[in-house]
Amino acid sequence: MAYDYILVERRGRAGLITLNRPNALNALSAGLVAELNAALDEFEADDKIGAIVITGSEKAFAAGADITEMKELDFVTAYRDDFISEWDKVGQRRKPLVAAVAGYALGGGCELAMMCDFIIAAETAKFGQPEISLGVIPGSGGTQRLTRFVGKAKAMDMCLTGRLMEADEAERAGLVSRVVPVGDVLEEAVKAAQKIASFSLPAVMMAKESVNRAYETTMAEGIRFERRIFQALFATEDQKEGMLAFTEKRSPQFNNR
Ligand code: CAA
Repeated sequence: MAYDYILVERRGRAGLITLNRPNALNALSAGLVAELNAALDEFEADDKIGAIVITGSEKAFAAGADITEMKELDFVTAYRDDFISEWDKVGQRRKPLVAAVAGYALGGGCELAMMCDFIIAAETAKFGQPEISLGVIPGSGGTQRLTRFVGKAKAMDMCLTGRLMEADEAERAGLVSRVVPVGDVLEEAVKAAQKIASFSLPAVMMAKESVNRAYETTMAEGIRFERRIFQALFATEDQKEGMLAFTEKRSPQFNNR
């Protein structure tokens, strides 16, 4: 499929989606988000892909929702069309998503990065929810995911003042998993995705599902959920292969069944 606003590649078992609207700092227009979802659909359906990287450019991962597209929007239209609900589909993907962020990740750009399973940031990354300066608030998880990830104090600070958070603070606060030099960020994310994709896909998907459950339930329910999933994995061929390979002192050959 041909895309106008993104570039799509395969790097072994890792899928790579590069947001590509350089003239608008990768602002997330309806067209771009539709293409992003179409590319994610393609990778989710592809047995040869085990994990996906989403990245932008060195200057901007994404500078937010497209302000020119939104500025004339009225409430009734936004409500009737359930404006930006399409974005949620990114966060509902079952294969792991890794965000490789350099430069600006603002507004919807920060929210998109947070919909991924973890963020690898360049030293140049700048995260922010500046919607307040446009007369609105974050609309795609900024007040919710950010608060769960960095806590109330920093989330309030960012959403109320619109200030940007640089990569080192984002790492200290728990928003990003690693910070690397800007020239390495994409390779580091692709390597992480390839590593994930080398494991048993059912185990990987269940690990993702189980960690995400921690945000949606009590500790006791979460532990029960985790234990059931752990038990279920003993029904897979990959569990047999993984443990046999360990005892035979060789690398496992997972076949994702
Ligand atoms: N929407 C549309 N166009 C955007 C954009 C956006 N979010 N962000 C940048 N652009 C465009 C600019 O209009 C400019 O276009 P022209 O060259 O045609 O004038 C081009 O990208 C380059 O931007 P700047 O000249 O502004 O670049 P800069 O280096 O001076 O500043 C910036 C960079 C600080 C990121 C600045 O562009 C900026 O503040 N952007 C807006 C950030 C923002 O407010 N994001 C939140 C959007 S609302 C939202 O996301 C809602 C939600 O929760 C879903």
